[in-house]
Amino acid sequence: MTSVPGGGTDEPTDDTARPVRITRDGPLMIQGPVRIETPDGDVVESDRFMVAICTCRRSKTYPLCDTSHRKRRRPPRDSAAKPPERPA
Ligand code: FES
Repeated sequence: MTSVPGGGTDEPTDDTARPVRITRDGPLMIQGPVRIETPDGDVVESDRFMVAICTCRRSKTYPLCDTSHRKRRRPPRDSAAKPPERPA
């Protein structure tokens, strides 16, 4: 992975369509290498064969997925829930 602040303007050299797979509750999977431009203008490059692009915005390596999407918060305990019965 290479991050290039300020970005670059290189255009892709081939016009072959790359398959992109959208995963449920996870990243966008795209064949690499890729060059991703972020909203602030930075460019992140990855030369991996398959690149996972974060869609949950929880990744510490955003825009690349770091599997943080797998960490789910436990729902708050229902304070009104009845406690388990104790044996007598
Ligand atoms: S999709 Fe994996 S960390 Fe966001």
